[in-house]
Amino acid sequence: MLPCQRYLFDIPSNVVYLNCAYMSPLMKPVLEAGSQGLARKAHPWELTPEEFFAGSDVFRATSAQLLDCSSDCVAIVPSASYGLATAAHNLPVRKGQFILVLDEQFPSNYYPWQRLAAEHCAALKVVQRPENDDWTAAVLHDLSEDVAIAALPHVQWTSGGLLDLVRIGEECRKVGAALALDLTQSLGAIPFSVRAVQPDFAVAANYKWLMGPYTTGLLYVAHKWQGGIPLEENWIQRANARNFSSLILYTPEYENGARRFDMGERSNFALLPAANRAMQQILEWSVAEISETCGVLTRQLATAAAELGFSSPPEELRAPHYLCLRRKSGIPLELTNLLAQEKMFVSVRGSSVRVTPHVYNSSDDVERLIRCLRRIFAAWLAT
Ligand SMILES: Cc1ncc(COP(=O)(O)O)c(C=O)c1O
Repeated sequence: MLPCQRYLFDIPSNVVYLNCAYMSPLMKPVLEAGSQGLARKAHPWELTPEEFFAGSDVFRATSAQLLDCSSDCVAIVPSASYGLATAAHNLPVRKGQFILVLDEQFPSNYYPWQRLAAEHCAALKVVQRPENDDWTAAVLHDLSEDVAIAALPHVQWTSGGLLDLVRIGEECRKVGAALALDLTQSLGAIPFSVRAVQPDFAVAANYKWLMGPYTTGLLYVAHKWQGGIPLEENWIQRANARNFSSLILYTPEYENGARRFDMGERSNFALLPAANRAMQQILEWSVAEISETCGVLTRQLATAAAELGFSSPPEELRAPHYLCLRRKSGIPLELTNLLAQEKMFVSVRGSSVRVTPHVYNSSDDVERLIRCLRRIFAAWLAT
């Protein structure tokens, strides 16, 4: 378990922030890298053409380490939705086939498939929430030969349920389905390997578990699809982009690998240095250590919360960093506000409380949350 890393963050001592699945706080060195990057625009004469490529190269290389793939397979995108739209733009589906999604899947990984299915007289097949919390078994049950694409996450975002993507990847290859992944709620927090899972496309927004700024994201594109059609045709994707004086010698050639899928203005001088610094810190901590550290905290909380009538998926079926506590007999409507008044921050969805710690949290934070929940529930049950 990593020692608490709170000193790297600007979190006041009275704040208990347990909501990384909503948005991670920026680390001080990340803020510094971003501020320095933004300030560079005050002196544009100092920005050289090479710098349009250098930050992007670092971004690709660092992302590739987190994904376990070659940096040529990484495109720079602004959001998960952009990456998933790119996947939907390139993956084929025929009339009568299905696109597999999970019950309550995040909208950015639902709408593009809904539209693609409608455009091709195909249909969505929704894997229903399993009573026993075993999402992997439920997906494997529904993965049949008429499924053209499985569009899935690593962690189901409303339950914290963990999917065994290696097993699902194998089954996709067996039935001939493409695999498109949204890793926004998992990459950086639990180990993942492109080599082991072999997806066709995989995207993650950076602002949660990759601890970067908003409007940055990475997209993995398998070799097979690297000759595909990007959402945009911009100058920097093209083979002649490095020579600024010959940009209007239009060329049909793209830069190699997944670079053709890069968004316009991908060389963002403010955001990329910040995203790069954050991902480098994650690699320094190691994803396995982050996962282990968060797992200790969520285990402590799940055990204590059971006394208040909360249940959660069994440990082997949920992601260690992502605890969704459900309470059949309900929770106070104003729970989020009551907790916020005490400077405690979690997400509340319906009758479930989502608690998502990171390495800036400690078991003291968990104990404070539990004490506060006990007080709130005692007062609520007494009314
Ligand atoms: C599972 C999941 N995917 C993606 C996103 C963000 O999507 P986008 O980058 O399209 O805004 C979120 C945000 O909460 C999410 O929970």
